[in-house]
Amino acid sequence: MAVVEIRQLYKAFGEVNAVNDVNLTIQEGEFLVLLGPSGSGKTSLLRMIAGLEKPTGGEIRIGGVVVNELPPRARKIAMVFQSYALYPHMTVYNNIAFPLRSVGMDRINIQTRVERAAKMFNIYHLLQRKPRQLSGGERQRVALARAVVREPDVFLLDEPLSNLDAKLRALARDELKQFQRQIGVTTVYVTHDQVEAMGMGDRVVVMNYGRVQQIGTPQALYRAPANTFVATFLGSPPMNLVEQDNCIIGFHPEHFLPKGIDQHMQSPITIPFEVTRVEYLGSERFLYGYVQGVGERTRVVSNIPSLVQLAIEAGRTYDFVADLHDLSYFDKMSGDRIAPVRLQIAQAAGV
Ligand SMILES: Nc1ncnc2c1ncn2[C@@H]1O[C@H](COP(=O)(O)OP(=O)(O)O)[C@@H](O)[C@H]1O
Ligand SMILES: [Mg+2]
Repeated sequence: MAVVEIRQLYKAFGEVNAVNDVNLTIQEGEFLVLLGPSGSGKTSLLRMIAGLEKPTGGEIRIGGVVVNELPPRARKIAMVFQSYALYPHMTVYNNIAFPLRSVGMDRINIQTRVERAAKMFNIYHLLQRKPRQLSGGERQRVALARAVVREPDVFLLDEPLSNLDAKLRALARDELKQFQRQIGVTTVYVTHDQVEAMGMGDRVVVMNYGRVQQIGTPQALYRAPANTFVATFLGSPPMNLVEQDNCIIGFHPEHFLPKGIDQHMQSPITIPFEVTRVEYLGSERFLYGYVQGVGERTRVVSNIPSLVQLAIEAGRTYDFVADLHDLSYFDKMSGDRIAPVRLQIAQAAGV
């Protein structure tokens, strides 16, 4: 276990700043998720922590030691990629044992460690099989077991579940998270899937164009996104953004409800909502449609729990409400979050 500290880290590939002034401290035993769209620099950042890529500038410390000049094998890290490759001609046992043999560990110790890892990932009964005799999920678990068998200080995972189908992925998420808690290893997990990030991370780092957009717990990011990028990257469907005279206001679909079920709201504001499509999803109803911002009509979504049985039809306009306390405000130019207080001052000053 170790703290990982990243200071003013840069990585340039020619003209591209893949990682651009990243500052980050990953706590001992923390499960930190790097979340961002494709090309946002997640893999580059992870590879620099692993020692597979040399920073253009900045510093990486693991357990208090600057590791910039240390080769990967001296860093006590383990990494699992999206396209992990098992040795096809070896049994599961030998696949997992491989990293231990290559550092010359004795047979008895190897056996103890392999069996422990295999039990942890529920593949003990598969130890004598070859990779081709395994399902995708089982292979994934073998790759994870092989990565942890050396008992790393830091565990780096780059979209390790993206080859699995949706159902299996949810299961693998649970297992991975459970395992991480069990051994308490400092973990950095890369994904472009916000559901995965919000569900797994103790904290989530949202990246875009090589830069950190926001760092926080899933709840904090969801409640108070730092800018419009984060606001629209999280949530499914994401936060609604509507342009006003002096700012952009944001509200989550589940905070935009038909008038009449707003008893719990402290300061409801009424917004006419032209509903164009209704989607029934069992536990909830999604309503798609338009509200009037300044200028253009703006497309927004409402998410109503199915407990609410109000009849709502596509093609009609209804009075909807949102609580002032649930609104986010963003600067029109920069897209950065504005505190409501600052906004009121700006309004009072007439800007
Ligand atoms: N070896 C490389 N050579 C040139 N450009 C690269 C290389 N690796 C990554 N990049 C560029 O750096 C940016 C970040 O890439 P990457 O770290 O792989 O992002 P992510 O993992 O978030 O998809 C992208 O624009 C990508 O094209
Ligand atoms: Mg990547």
